[in-house]
Amino acid sequence: MPSQVELCDVQKGFGERQIIKGVNLLIQPSEFIVLVGPSGCGKSTLLRMIAGLESVDTGEIRFDGAPVNDRRPAERNVGMVFQSYALYPHMTVEENVAFALKIARVDAAERRQRVDEVLDVLQLSALRNSRPSQLSGGQRQRVAIGRSIVRKPAVFLFDEPLSNLDTALRVQMRLEISRLHHRLRNTVVYVTHDQVEAMTLADRIVVLEAGTVQQIGPPLELYERPANKFVAGFLGTPQMGFLAAEAVGHGADGLSVRICASGVTLPFRGQGSRQGNVTIGIRPEDCTLCAPEQGHLAGEVLQVERLGSDTFAFVEGGGEAPVAVRVGADRDVPAGSRVGVTFDPARCHLFDDSGVTLPPHTA
Ligand SMILES: Nc1ncnc2c1ncn2[C@@H]1O[C@H](COP(=O)(O)OP(=O)(O)OP(=O)(O)O)[C@@H](O)[C@H]1O
Ligand SMILES: [Mg+2]
Repeated sequence: MPSQVELCDVQKGFGERQIIKGVNLLIQPSEFIVLVGPSGCGKSTLLRMIAGLESVDTGEIRFDGAPVNDRRPAERNVGMVFQSYALYPHMTVEENVAFALKIARVDAAERRQRVDEVLDVLQLSALRNSRPSQLSGGQRQRVAIGRSIVRKPAVFLFDEPLSNLDTALRVQMRLEISRLHHRLRNTVVYVTHDQVEAMTLADRIVVLEAGTVQQIGPPLELYERPANKFVAGFLGTPQMGFLAAEAVGHGADGLSVRICASGVTLPFRGQGSRQGNVTIGIRPEDCTLCAPEQGHLAGEVLQVERLGSDTFAFVEGGGEAPVAVRVGADRDVPAGSRVGVTFDPARCHLFDDSGVTLPPHTA
């Protein structure tokens, strides 16, 4: 049965260093949660704490309401797949998958039935007698997943399981993991650095920074309504462009915000009255190139990235970093040319001095 997993003010340090700084998270049965965040922010540590491989300093981890802090990994009914999956080289695919059941003394008939089922789900039946050295990376990865799911764990924990596969295999395995989840409906906590994996697999994404949860929500909600500048900048490639600006007054058409680099003032409807430093955030797909004198921003095209389906121009317009603009794939924008960039203030995000998203004024 799928489990509900609850983290209540969970904290963890190594020596003097506080790594997990009070995480609260309620994961519903069958939910697919993806943990993202910069390297070293504590994703693997958190996953290992759920598995029981790391102790909890303070706070509580509960499975279906019952505290599991003191339960050993084997008593938690979790399956883990790591980035570096070590298969037993001297065993066949079938023996690798069956091993945990053998250890658990599951009788031969049932073992055979469960292994057959898993090999079938993972499309490994034809390879059952092969050894790991005879398999491709993606096939090995599937065996590692098979080893974990054959035990029917209530909770699956994946730590960057696809990061050492090539692009084509990653895409294939991503679809397989998604299909598997629809079929098995286990609770999943999945760590990845891959934006596409996070956006496509997750029911909800958890963004961690330095051991603290920045935002939890469905992928598109986080993309469209980031709670702060960190989340806004973390999700989306190329990154959201950030422009230093100043709130200079409130008029009939909203808050007037002046872009520092260009001096252009834009009205932000629905914003309350305020003064002082703010940051405007704008995504590449919400920007348009124009003549320099017509832009809300003007500058030199530093670099052009042509990805086939999309082309991005990176414009040095005096912001924190060059602003990425998505242009039509067929549009020729030479690097070094001077361009203007326009955008609709309604598509912009506004952040206060501390990086918190300014909420729409709801008076
Ligand atoms: N056993 C340990 N002893 C001491 N410090 C540790 C230990 N395990 C992890 N850390 C530290 O805790 C921090 C978080 O590590 P963790 O492996 O959880 O990061 P991560 O978010 O998974 O990063 P990455 O994306 O690079 O895998 C790091 O600064 C790391 O050095
Ligand atoms: Mg890690």
